[in-house]
Amino acid sequence: MTKTVFITGASSGIGCATALYFYEQGWNVIATMRNPEKRRTLLHEKGLPDLVHLDVTDSASIQSALDYAVGKYQKIDVLVNNAGYAVYGPFESASPEQVTKQFATNVFGLMEMTRALLPYFRAQHEGLLINVTSMGGRIGFPLYSVYNSSKWAVEGFSEALQYELKSLNIRVKTIEPGVIKTDFYDRSLDRSAGTLAEDPYAAIQQRAQKSLGEGGMTSGSEPALVAKTIYRAATDGSRRLRYPVGTDAKMVNFLRAVLPAPWFFSVLEKFTLG
Ligand SMILES: NC(=O)c1ccc[n+]([C@@H]2O[C@H](COP(=O)([O-])OP(=O)(O)OC[C@H]3O[C@@H](n4cnc5c(N)ncnc54)[C@H](OP(=O)(O)O)[C@@H]3O)[C@@H](O)[C@H]2O)c1
Repeated sequence: MTKTVFITGASSGIGCATALYFYEQGWNVIATMRNPEKRRTLLHEKGLPDLVHLDVTDSASIQSALDYAVGKYQKIDVLVNNAGYAVYGPFESASPEQVTKQFATNVFGLMEMTRALLPYFRAQHEGLLINVTSMGGRIGFPLYSVYNSSKWAVEGFSEALQYELKSLNIRVKTIEPGVIKTDFYDRSLDRSAGTLAEDPYAAIQQRAQKSLGEGGMTSGSEPALVAKTIYRAATDGSRRLRYPVGTDAKMVNFLRAVLPAPWFFSVLEKFTLG
């Protein structure tokens, strides 16, 4: 029987590449996005049949997208919680609204999506939950404190959740991309506003010019690499929890594992801030 994947944030980048890759492998793909009617995407051009409205901060839209998917395909085999973006900049200059919105999308939205799907997974006696976190989901990067804390939350959520879902035959996995060439560092980057009277963070921001989030993205991996890893996670039949993607993500995890913490922090600082 043809399998069905349900993806959030499929309008661009990793979500779009993942929708396309699963579609090419013959899966039914429920590609959800905030504005399927207004925003023309590659998935429209490729003729994917199920482009469905879903904003992860809007529970009603989650439920109606699920109703659509289950009504049409009866079963959802895999949920890919991909929707997300980053608040970037010094924590002190991020507004409370920016911080709240970051968690509302990356954490609470993902949890609500998961909560809404679990009854279906339980009823069908199986399911696979794949959460797209980040290499910044277990490691902190300069000026990404708000974003990294949201992704650490999802890593903790996923790791803990796997135990209670195991006996229900529902598996949990995380995908941890390194730097990927998408809209993430452009329209999906919400810079903290810099409302402070003086700017005590000018120096670190200047040092970060060449770092993550500041124009060095031409060297990142292609979203298709993440799509293939998500597909592997969906089809390898394993209970493996974490899938780092890209040489940068793998290298940073390796260094974190082998170096004493102070050494690791100074290597990371040198690498990201020069
Ligand atoms: N690119 C990287 O280097 C990188 C690295 C590690 C992890 N990630 C993670 O990968 C995921 C995808 O990011 P990307 O790199 O593919 O960036 P992207 O191209 O900017 O895609 C982000 C997607 O999230 C959607 N989104 C944002 N808020 C949403 C909401 N409230 N409800 C539903 N969808 C929402 C966006 O929809 P709209 O089109 O409506 O804005 C867009 O489809 C994110 O979770 C990100 O944190 C990215």
